[in-house]
Amino acid sequence: MPLQTERIPFANAPATAADTKSDGIPRLGYGCWNLPNEQAADLVYGALEAGYRHIDSAAIYGNEKEVGEGINRWLKATGTPRSEIFVTSKLWLNSKRAENVARGLTKTLDDLKLEYLDLYLIHWPGSLEAGQNFDGSAAIPQDDKGFPIRDYGADEEDTWAALEAQIPQKVKNIGIANYTKSEIEDLLKYAKIKPSSLQVECHVYLQQKDLVAFAQSKGIQVTAYSPFGGLNPTYGGTTEVVSDPLVQSLATKHNTTPHGIVLSFLISRNIVPIPKSVTKYKENFDSIVKLDADDVKALEGADKGKRYNDCSEMLGYIFFKDEKSSEQILTQIAKAGLTRAQAKVEHLVGK
Ligand SMILES: NC(=O)c1ccc[n+]([C@@H]2O[C@H](COP(=O)([O-])OP(=O)(O)OC[C@H]3O[C@@H](n4cnc5c(N)ncnc54)[C@H](OP(=O)(O)O)[C@@H]3O)[C@@H](O)[C@H]2O)c1
Repeated sequence: MPLQTERIPFANAPATAADTKSDGIPRLGYGCWNLPNEQAADLVYGALEAGYRHIDSAAIYGNEKEVGEGINRWLKATGTPRSEIFVTSKLWLNSKRAENVARGLTKTLDDLKLEYLDLYLIHWPGSLEAGQNFDGSAAIPQDDKGFPIRDYGADEEDTWAALEAQIPQKVKNIGIANYTKSEIEDLLKYAKIKPSSLQVECHVYLQQKDLVAFAQSKGIQVTAYSPFGGLNPTYGGTTEVVSDPLVQSLATKHNTTPHGIVLSFLISRNIVPIPKSVTKYKENFDSIVKLDADDVKALEGADKGKRYNDCSEMLGYIFFKDEKSSEQILTQIAKAGLTRAQAKVEHLVGK
């Protein structure tokens, strides 16, 4: 079995997952954010054909119907059992009220035309006003000034309990994305089923060493989104991570691409990268190499703590606040249109 499809067992897998292969996550995944709707089905089909066995989807990406079409077409064409592939999706912020969790999940399963997910993640901490639609069309409700409309009535503990209730029929494992260490610590206080997985931005310039060590110490497997740093056009499309001279020289040394080096580095840390590509998905799958201990050490020294994805202002919740100065937090509060009372609810400001 190639390394890319080998599974990392979930230390926190619910007991019920043990009868399926979903008690582990393949070491490489295919990211579906920004796959154009008209191509997504063929791309997902092509990715499975190229060897990926792990698909990373989300309701907010607005392409789950097409992603599901690609998955189902490939399963049928190849006669592969559903249990051979691993599918993740994510609960959007407008579905966080306990009574809406099942609606968000049902919509995702209906769109994907799958009976169950291997992993269902809470997409971000915080919550937005629930719309009537759970398909992303009311994904970021805005007030008449264009500020996001938060939902302070959605309780994180109730959301988690509602996710736990979906196991094992509709979901084999549950987890979180974009949570900080302190947010995970809060969750662990009330979780009856511990998160199997944490998905965060992670790459050579944002190695998240403390967070990864903390998560792994709690049995929480870590998945890396945006493994190429700022290369996603939504972040400006900078090539700085893959053009880093160290990454380039290691690509030459190992006769692979710079993209292959940054993916292989994550894999060497027991972290699962989920690169997205319309044009190079096969090349990326084939680009994985075994790095030497010296290469890994050198890459560890290239960390810059540089984050490309922070939607605090767009979603009205101050993410990653542990790593921000109070000045930065105040600026983001103003840009997100939060009132002082709202900021106090989440302990962003004092009395
Ligand atoms: N949980 C979350 O909040 C969250 C947030 C962000 C992302 N994600 C997940 O993580 C996945 C990956 O992250 P991402 O989409 O932000 O970024 P990414 O995978 O780091 O980068 C994608 C960009 O890299 C380009 N690319 C990929 N391979 C390449 C290669 N070998 N040579 C040249 N260019 C290459 C792609 O271009 P082409 O497509 O044109 O080939 C695309 O523009 C997402 O699709 C999504 O599933 C999750």
